Amino acid sequence: MAEKNEFFQSQIVKDFNQEIERFHLGPLWNAIPALMHKQPTPQAAPYLWKWETLYQKLMEAREIFTPDRGGERRAIFLQNPGLKHREPWGWASTTQTLYAAVQLILPGETAPSHRHTQSALRFITSGSGAYSIVDGERIFMEEGDFLTTPGGLWHGHGHPGNEPMIWMDCLDIPTIFALGGTFFESYPEHIQQPEKPDNYSINRYAGGLVRPIHDRTPQKAPLGSFKWPQTLAALNGLSRYEPDPYDGYAVEFINPSTGKTACPTIASWMQKLPAGFRSKAHRHTSSTIYHVFKGEGCTVIDGVRFDWSKGDFFVVPNWAWHEHVASSGEDAYLFSTSDLPIMERFDLQREEAYPENNGHQPVTDQFQALLP
Ligand SMILES: [Fe+2]
Ligand SMILES: [Fe+2]
Repeated sequence: MAEKNEFFQSQIVKDFNQEIERFHLGPLWNAIPALMHKQPTPQAAPYLWKWETLYQKLMEAREIFTPDRGGERRAIFLQNPGLKHREPWGWASTTQTLYAAVQLILPGETAPSHRHTQSALRFITSGSGAYSIVDGERIFMEEGDFLTTPGGLWHGHGHPGNEPMIWMDCLDIPTIFALGGTFFESYPEHIQQPEKPDNYSINRYAGGLVRPIHDRTPQKAPLGSFKWPQTLAALNGLSRYEPDPYDGYAVEFINPSTGKTACPTIASWMQKLPAGFRSKAHRHTSSTIYHVFKGEGCTVIDGVRFDWSKGDFFVVPNWAWHEHVASSGEDAYLFSTSDLPIMERFDLQREEAYPENNGHQPVTDQFQALLP
């Protein structure tokens, strides 16, 4: 080892490394320990954004951004502090692979239709009355609904209702940016006009449990929206049995024509942690963005306790130990998105149970969230 260090520090090696740099060449012998480490060393940080902060900043943005002035969408993204150095705009990275944002639409506003190679999904956090028009179908949205918009489909939003509406967006922006596959196109006539009956796919698929007999050919998004009452019914059915030791009761949103994830590159789950539930700790190569839909509790990430309550968002980076605790007063519901399908496609998914202390990490610190 000493010999190896001597080699790296020797003047002859340093001079050579510097010499080749001007030809835009690099020495693998120096680079390999940092680039090919023994296990994942995520640059994304564990982090938590309080709902109070997000809500206040969205309200302030009502006047800063208007559809007339800003064009696209009134969305504020969650920038991971560990990935700020990525140029430009931190690649809008919430994790190394995924982007998440909160979006506000006011009554009477429209967000123009566009399409892009990034895949998108939405989870409705508050309000009702607005719709997304995806591929010519107006899908009306209510609290707890999950919507998927795989890459390449035209989509816009409109709000004929009468209360502000907020939802979470999640896209694979950093992944597509890293892969150099970004295409973006505006719809020629502002917002696409309906070409199908409203809520067509929701009615035809009744929540994704069955499919119409004519839809035997796999489609990108045969079902555009998964309604909260059906998700809740699925969780209640599951809750009659033993919980998963790491995730409590969790269901995954799937494409009913393929059985794969509803969004091709992003996995989406809704999980219920019964009041007082304490999970065991594990870690995996996929990273996760959580939104607290209901309830309160905490998640211990790499020994640091993150307290959460309704509306908060937090990130568990890849390969970070994590375990969840729901407060004793009420059941907690967490919506989450992860890059599991991306990791699986590259054959990178690994999972490990925390080996000591009956599956629980020692808590060494507590995260202090920024408040407005
Ligand atoms: Fe979009
Ligand atoms: Fe996990």
